[in-house]
Amino acid sequence: MWETQRLVVANVTVADAGDYAVAFGDRESARFLGSPDPGDAVEWASQIARWTAGAPKGSTDEWLNFSVRLQEFGRPLVGRLQATVHGFWAEVAWVFSSAQWRRGYATEAGRWLVAHLADRGIDTIVASVDPGNRASVGLLNRIGFSLTEIPGLVPDSYDSGDLVFALRANIQRGGQ
Ligand SMILES: CC(C)(COP(=O)(O)OP(=O)(O)OC[C@H]1O[C@@H](n2cnc3c(N)ncnc32)[C@H](O)[C@@H]1OP(=O)(O)O)[C@@H](O)C(=O)NCCC(=O)NCCS
Repeated sequence: MWETQRLVVANVTVADAGDYAVAFGDRESARFLGSPDPGDAVEWASQIARWTAGAPKGSTDEWLNFSVRLQEFGRPLVGRLQATVHGFWAEVAWVFSSAQWRRGYATEAGRWLVAHLADRGIDTIVASVDPGNRASVGLLNRIGFSLTEIPGLVPDSYDSGDLVFALRANIQRGGQ
């Protein structure tokens, strides 16, 4: 478990499923996701079990999934973070509950994720985004990602027409 100024970040577990159904049950949160979010806690439990089982046999990828909660009483769930680690680089994605948008939570959690991946030795972090997803584009810019014209590293989540953003994780952390 990790703490930022206002948030608690933890590896997702099946016990989070009920909270996921409440936080991510609306269409608006899932509008730009490649596939719709599960509709209820039972489906979420299966989804989380697949995530925590990890990448398919034979793959060297690592799947990281984090729940983001407020530090305040009851620790309400506000968002989730995903990273797929492909050796020296990783691709990331994030979803926050629409009831909690525009409070800077995704910025705070996204910065934590960048630092966490840098600490793990990840060199480059990449995200692909639907060009119409203004919120996610704004978030990536705010965290320090730059648009890459010709991506050398193509994320698994890339769909034709997506914008690809990249960030050198060690530079973001002052080259440490
Ligand atoms: C993208 C998302 C995670 C942002 O979450 P958030 O907690 O509202 O983000 P923040 O409050 O930290 O805002 C960070 C920046 O994002 C941009 N942003 C956020 N919401 C925005 C909106 N509705 N319109 C335009 N820009 C927006 C702004 O640049 C904002 O900075 P500012 O408040 O200083 O202007 C959230 O909108 C979301 O979950 N969207 C649905 C899921 C999704 O599409 N994920 C991306 C797929 S990878």
